[in-house]
Amino acid sequence: MSFAPYNDLRRHCAALGFGNQWTEAACALGNERFAACPHGDYPRWKAALDGLPAVPPAFRMREGMPCLGEDFQDQQGLADELMTFHPWRKGPLQLAGVTIDTEWRSDWKWSRIAPHIDLSAQRVLDIGCGNGYFGWRMLDAGAELVIGVDPTWVFVMQWLACRHFAGDLANFVLPQGIEDLPEQEVAFDSVFSMGVLYHRRDPAHHLARLHSLLKPGGTLVLETLVLPDDQADGVLVPEGRYARMRNVWAVPGCERLLRWVAEAGFSNAQIVDVNQTTVEEQRSTPWMTFESLDKTLDPQDSARTIEGHPAPRRAVLIARSA
Ligand SMILES: C[S@@+](CC[C@H](N)C(=O)[O-])C[C@H]1O[C@@H](n2cnc3c(N)ncnc32)[C@H](O)[C@@H]1O
Repeated sequence: MSFAPYNDLRRHCAALGFGNQWTEAACALGNERFAACPHGDYPRWKAALDGLPAVPPAFRMREGMPCLGEDFQDQQGLADELMTFHPWRKGPLQLAGVTIDTEWRSDWKWSRIAPHIDLSAQRVLDIGCGNGYFGWRMLDAGAELVIGVDPTWVFVMQWLACRHFAGDLANFVLPQGIEDLPEQEVAFDSVFSMGVLYHRRDPAHHLARLHSLLKPGGTLVLETLVLPDDQADGVLVPEGRYARMRNVWAVPGCERLLRWVAEAGFSNAQIVDVNQTTVEEQRSTPWMTFESLDKTLDPQDSARTIEGHPAPRRAVLIARSA
């Protein structure tokens, strides 16, 4: 039988009465993409996934770390198997007792967002969700259903590894970009877009699309790079790279960001947090051995990137779709 991980999502949606043409099309596309996954590493990842030990499923939170699955005896063997899914960027996570010290302390990001939102019984869409780390935090905060989307295959495979240990919980990651989402109507209670806006060539279009995915009065949680306060109304369009990334298209100041969000049809927008990203929050670890933030900053001046731009600083903005 072919691998169709989104039949579970279909079932969850139907049970919640959230099943509609949109969810059906999204699940069908997800299954189709798995049936024809073009990534050269897919056979290796799938073999590792199939080889994960069958431990009793479990989901608990421990100090910002989702702990999934009961402990497995052979911790080193499991750690070696999980390393197949390198690079692990978003976490920390613990799978069957193996702690994955990821590149990002995503728990720090969540602690800056969580006090400002109420996810009780919410149906949530998380655009650019990575391996679904935040989805576990959202479920723990009371969300009923989390559908994440991310076009990067290795992160989707990491989510499948997490799901193997967590069991059949309502946190999903579809292998698609926002541009691949079905056009049919859908109405999420909350839509998250964290760390994605600056990767989009047309930020206005991205924001308008987020708006169209929300129910009237629904909540947008937007997290993105912003310029320093003395450029609050400015926008940086980097020529070439930003912090060694080739795909950063626009970094606004906070005032400019608020204007973009209002122009997309949102109301009551508030910036609830602004934070300079530190080399303690984003760093290389044994689970993410590539270069990280410290190698992208000017060695003489950590307030600047290696290209001379303002160093990464991130804002969290919350708005309503009405
Ligand atoms: C900087 S990471 C942010 C991950 C996570 N949301 C966070 O805040 O830690 C950006 C993510 O967006 C994903 N991404 C890139 N292009 C995308 C697109 N067109 N639609 C949705 N996600 C995208 C990437 O694969 C990556 O996982």
